[in-house]
Amino acid sequence: MRVAITGAAGLFGQGLVAAFSTRHEVFPLTRAEADITDAEAVLAALERIRPELVVHPAGIPDLDTCEADPARGFLVNYQGTRNVVEAARQVGAGVAHISTDAVFDGKKLAPYLETDQPQPLTVYGRTKLQAEQAVQALAKHWIFRVSVLFGPGKTNFVEKGLHEVAAGDEYVVASNQVGSATHTVDAGMKIMEVVEAGRHGLYHLSNQGACTRFELARKAVELAGLDPGKVVGVPDAMMRRRAPRLKYAVMEMAALRQAGFALPRSWQEALAEYVHAIRALWEKRSEDAPGLRS
Ligand SMILES: NC(=O)c1ccc[n+]([C@@H]2O[C@H](COP(=O)([O-])OP(=O)(O)OC[C@H]3O[C@@H](n4cnc5c(N)ncnc54)[C@H](OP(=O)(O)O)[C@@H]3O)[C@@H](O)[C@H]2O)c1
Repeated sequence: MRVAITGAAGLFGQGLVAAFSTRHEVFPLTRAEADITDAEAVLAALERIRPELVVHPAGIPDLDTCEADPARGFLVNYQGTRNVVEAARQVGAGVAHISTDAVFDGKKLAPYLETDQPQPLTVYGRTKLQAEQAVQALAKHWIFRVSVLFGPGKTNFVEKGLHEVAAGDEYVVASNQVGSATHTVDAGMKIMEVVEAGRHGLYHLSNQGACTRFELARKAVELAGLDPGKVVGVPDAMMRRRAPRLKYAVMEMAALRQAGFALPRSWQEALAEYVHAIRALWEKRSEDAPGLRS
């Protein structure tokens, strides 16, 4: 299958390219090649590629950026997605859209199901919910809500902590935000499986198990053989961030289960493999350039 992937230089974009390249012909699209806020540029790119599927992780994933500049958040996350959907419709492609747990308000205190009513707390969450609605207008669509991404290719929440602790600094993270964690390549492989099966719809997707940001960062530091005491958990209110964070955002993967798909491995297993790969990279770099740790 010919697969175009937006946001291909991004964290999830790179995981999706790695996953889909194992079985399909992949056409990575960066912002320079197709700015999703430019409808004509998106259509021109898809007319050139003629994909059967567009996987669409491009967007602004930062909650505080969206909260500070709602117009830009809506332009990229919502209008950009509409442009992708419209161009896909014109070339006859399906769209697999990447969404987020931030469509919920975090007040449920039990795992969120795909059938739960979204109630976003933030500008970011609202932009992503409207983008989901734009995608649902297309017959051949999939929506995958993911949460706290980590994976190769771009610095992320986990890698940032490893770098800070390796440099002797403290890594200050929220101790009271419970959620799901998602390895980008694991999620990419599952998305590919669902798309190949032709099972359209809305799916929650992460690695199995719940954790706080503190538990995730501390486990990563421990696995890297660094000092877990350097990971400091504080209530998220103390972090003075612009956009409110969800206290509880665990997602139940009910739709995957009901459709008979195996669920991804646990977050601990995925994290162990990822941290191991980072350590191997650091070791290689310090052999190539002695004195360089990270
Ligand atoms: N990160 C998380 O923990 C998380 C959690 C839940 C859901 N998500 C969702 O997952 C998706 C991917 O997130 P991510 O962490 O991979 O983000 P990312 O690393 O920031 O990647 C997003 C990509 O989108 C591209 N992009 C931004 N504006 C664009 C535009 N106008 N036209 C074309 N491309 C544009 C960026 O290009 P540049 O490289 O040029 O900036 C970047 O490559 C997002 O939709 C996000 O809402 C992420």
